[in-house]
Amino acid sequence: MRGRIPQAFLDDLLDRVDIVEVIDRRVKLKKTGKNYSARCPFHDEKTPSFSVNPDKQFYYCFGCGAGGNAITFVMEYENLEFPQAVDTLAGGMGMEVPREQSAGGDRAQEREDSNKPLYALMEQVAAFYQQQLRKHPEAHRAVDYLKGRGLTGEVARTFGLGFAPPGWGNLLEALGEGEAQRDLLLKSGMLVQNEKGRQYDRFRDRVVFPIRDRRGRVIAFGGRVLGDDKPKYLNSPETAIFHKGRELYGLYEARQANRQLARIVVVEGYMDVIALAQHGITYATATLGTATSQTHLERIFRLCPEVVFCFDGDEAGRKAALRALEAALPCMEDGRQARFLFLPEGQDPDDAVRAQGRDYFEALLERAIPLETFLFDTVGENLDLASLEGRARMSKQALPYIRQLPEGVFRQLMFQALADRTGLELASLMQLEAPPPAPLAPEPPPADELEAPFEAPPPEDYADEYRAPDRAEPPPPDPLARGYSNLAQAAIALLLHRPAIARVANPDDLAGLVGEDVALLRELIELLQRRPESSTAMLLGHWYGTPEGTLMSRLAGQERLIPAEGIEQQFVDTMAKLARVLPHQSKFAAQVDKIKVTNYAEVSELEKQRLRELLQEKLEQDTRRNKPS
Ligand code: UTP
Ligand code: MN
Repeated sequence: MRGRIPQAFLDDLLDRVDIVEVIDRRVKLKKTGKNYSARCPFHDEKTPSFSVNPDKQFYYCFGCGAGGNAITFVMEYENLEFPQAVDTLAGGMGMEVPREQSAGGDRAQEREDSNKPLYALMEQVAAFYQQQLRKHPEAHRAVDYLKGRGLTGEVARTFGLGFAPPGWGNLLEALGEGEAQRDLLLKSGMLVQNEKGRQYDRFRDRVVFPIRDRRGRVIAFGGRVLGDDKPKYLNSPETAIFHKGRELYGLYEARQANRQLARIVVVEGYMDVIALAQHGITYATATLGTATSQTHLERIFRLCPEVVFCFDGDEAGRKAALRALEAALPCMEDGRQARFLFLPEGQDPDDAVRAQGRDYFEALLERAIPLETFLFDTVGENLDLASLEGRARMSKQALPYIRQLPEGVFRQLMFQALADRTGLELASLMQLEAPPPAPLAPEPPPADELEAPFEAPPPEDYADEYRAPDRAEPPPPDPLARGYSNLAQAAIALLLHRPAIARVANPDDLAGLVGEDVALLRELIELLQRRPESSTAMLLGHWYGTPEGTLMSRLAGQERLIPAEGIEQQFVDTMAKLARVLPHQSKFAAQVDKIKVTNYAEVSELEKQRLRELLQEKLEQDTRRNKPS
């Protein structure tokens, strides 16, 4: 097992590499003022909002919020884990990466290492099945089957299709030598053991589809019978490396086939993905017999701004579509799009594309209905929209959905669209779902310089955007909560801009204050006082992959808000203001922050989600590695 990379080496590496060179080698940069810019490689865009700061050695995208230092860029861009990204960069500089003797405490690394034999085994299994498809005496049956479904050898290779021959012990014999190996085969789900302790192959007489993770490693298989036997499809069970609810079949292949994905189609079956690819539609992916989840969608939206769900036109298809809609709503940040395509009853994408070809299918995709249409059609179904009652009911049914949307222009438009469709005033529409009287707010704190009139937020998060006019005048947005959080964020932004000013701060000034931003500020000050030589890039690296890191990248990217002069004085003033916030105000403000879903809170939730998905294994490792001891 390889040990940790010493922090001193990472600092040294970041000092020596030039982020502009690192990025420019992969994405052509253009000089704009003192920074460099490009079209963001992490999301699809027409005008450049990706910016690289040569002085502070970080990048930030104003469009999608991606940000970090040279190491994180290589991780994200080349889809590498942290140590590999460090190796890549160090290699380019002719530097040798030292490793600390690890005291066996690195659990994520250990997990990764303990799964290594499993990944290796799955590669062997995939190779075995592929070989059987070429060599087994009965392989022609499988080959004929695949050909009969219109697939060429090329597509079969792209997807690594194989053949699990008939018989109970093919794999067992080929790869099951020794007890340890058989145990591993059991763990991988490729062998099954009955009550009598007998072991046999899970997949028999089926074409098999390797399921690959985002790094292209085979983690599981699906298998289809060659005829009409039941069950038609068999899938690997959940294993240490395979979690059905997270994976999307064909996503790896789609990324391989497209430098930049403009859109991803979600279909229901393995064969739909492959048939579409066969016809040149190389951007389809399927869930593995599960409903589309928010995790799936976050993964998709990280790669491209548009998803089209494709379902059968039958009842089951509509139900599945509704579940997809529910999963999609919280992910619909501005700039993202979800649409729904319902095929004629009894037809799936495989049938459609084979019968009518690529152009036809892409034309169908073009005409897929937008999320809002599907939503309103669904909630308006069987309602008499000519009657006031019908329209009121429609509003009632639609509101809970709309409220799932993250704050933003799209959400506001949806409220407006609902008003338009129901012919109800936005105002009365809000009253329909008028929130119950607000719970008694705590005594307002005495005025101080942050103060301004405020009241407890209404329990419904939409309520203060769309308050009915006959209710109390809309209050200004909670100035205390916002001002307080703003102060902490302002201080963080100043520190990121000029880390050296941390020496003038006293972290005790923040004693008694709660809230995530203040906690981050305090941590930042403490870190900088221990390691005053830290650069912006190092700081971003330290928090990379966490919600705090996302906020910090954003703040670092807002250079224009930083004054040209008097930075240190401004920092001192900001800290002084924070020091005057009373603890009970801070508690209240933090609570308000929690209840009130601000834009940032929403992003941060999504980031947490993404974090779980992408960086789960690495998080612990990073924290440990980066925490100076
Ligand atoms: P469908 O039954 O819609 O099959 O299953 P299909 O994709 O059209 O299959 P073909 O065209 O007959 O080959 C859709 C998906 O549901 C899961 C599989 O993931 C399949 O791709 N499924 C289906 C199973 O897991 N088990 C089954 O028995 C059937
Ligand atoms: Mn089918």
